[in-house]
Amino acid sequence: MKVAIPKERRTDERRVAATPDTVKKLIQLGCTVAVESGAGVGANLSDEAFQAAGATIAKDAEGAVGDAEVVLRVQRPLEAADGNDEIAMMKQGAVLVGLLDPLVHKAQVAAYAARGIVSFAMELVPRISRAQTMDALSSQSNLAGYRAVIEAAEAFGKALPLMMTAAGTIAPAKVFVMGAGVAGLQAIATAKRLGAVVSGTDVRKAAAEQVESLGATFLAPPDVGDAETKGGYAKELDAEKQRQQAVITSEHLKKQDIVICTALIPGRPAPVLITEDMVRGMKAGSVIVDLAVESGGNCTLSKPGEKVVAHGVSILGYRNITSRVAVDASSLYARNLLNFLTPLVKAGALAIDWNDEIVTGTLLTRDGKVVHPRLSGA
Ligand code: NAI
Repeated sequence: MKVAIPKERRTDERRVAATPDTVKKLIQLGCTVAVESGAGVGANLSDEAFQAAGATIAKDAEGAVGDAEVVLRVQRPLEAADGNDEIAMMKQGAVLVGLLDPLVHKAQVAAYAARGIVSFAMELVPRISRAQTMDALSSQSNLAGYRAVIEAAEAFGKALPLMMTAAGTIAPAKVFVMGAGVAGLQAIATAKRLGAVVSGTDVRKAAAEQVESLGATFLAPPDVGDAETKGGYAKELDAEKQRQQAVITSEHLKKQDIVICTALIPGRPAPVLITEDMVRGMKAGSVIVDLAVESGGNCTLSKPGEKVVAHGVSILGYRNITSRVAVDASSLYARNLLNFLTPLVKAGALAIDWNDEIVTGTLLTRDGKVVHPRLSGA
């Protein structure tokens, strides 16, 4: 069975879906592996390193994926409208696994079905113990939270820790993290390690203890009752609760130097937490990093892929921030993929248990149909 690793071509994407380490393990499973030339460049992985691990190098995407039974990707394939139809390159019946963003790009899911592709979305891996090693959202969010603080520190014209020197004392920076899921908690931990005075907020009750256990203070939201779904995610607040949250937040924001926004609601636009008025009230020179920018943003002024300076505040809306730490992000994601694929392969051939909870949770299309209950309406 041939497994293909094409080069990622979407904007700002530097990650790759395999490493020499995972290539070796795929070969041990009985697979052959083809890597498109240059696929690993953004993650410091040369064609030679993949070759030494046992992969063949294909000169272009078609050469890699054209006759592959399985295609492993970071982001969803390009479409005809992008000038290069990476779906049409795949053979009928082939398996596609990646961060396919299916709840947003529904038409593309229909295109996988039309092509007869068996597609799996890594962001839908259920959060059960058995699937923890496959949890790409966690592995990538962790690095995103870390990197957001590093980016903020770089853009901030001051130091983060308290420094007492003969020439005077430097006050520690105040860092506020909005949304205390995987990315937010890692951002809190990173900012603490850099010596900042850190606070965090979230609408889920369980988050308060987690924020405090990292040594940060918790800014309690308005009483929102049970704002957590069974899956552990946040629910959207109603308009009145949003207004109350804004009142609490805007006072706190006035005292902050760095704000890291990570708040998301699965399948919905990101909640708006920072308006232009709130930015106007912040100290000149402060920095906002909006990790939610690709889902619409937590700050109304953030722009995907850009650094905006407004009212003296720098607002970083970098797209795909994990690609700014592409070596580790690729290494963890490639392992997530390997752990996902391993139970689907026996003696080098696909042997998928279609009733397995992880398979039903992630399977988007099969036999020419969209089958995922969140997409098919089934
Ligand atoms: P996410 O990326 O969907 O959202 C980030 C955070 O934003 C969440 O904590 C959410 O509550 C918060 N948020 C949403 N709206 C907000 C608002 N208006 N104001 C403030 N914060 C808001 O979440 P993520 O990081 O994927 O984590 C979701 C849950 O999954 C957490 O409970 C986490 O502990 C849990 N989890 C479970 C795993 C498992 O294997 N069992 C693995 C990883 C995470």
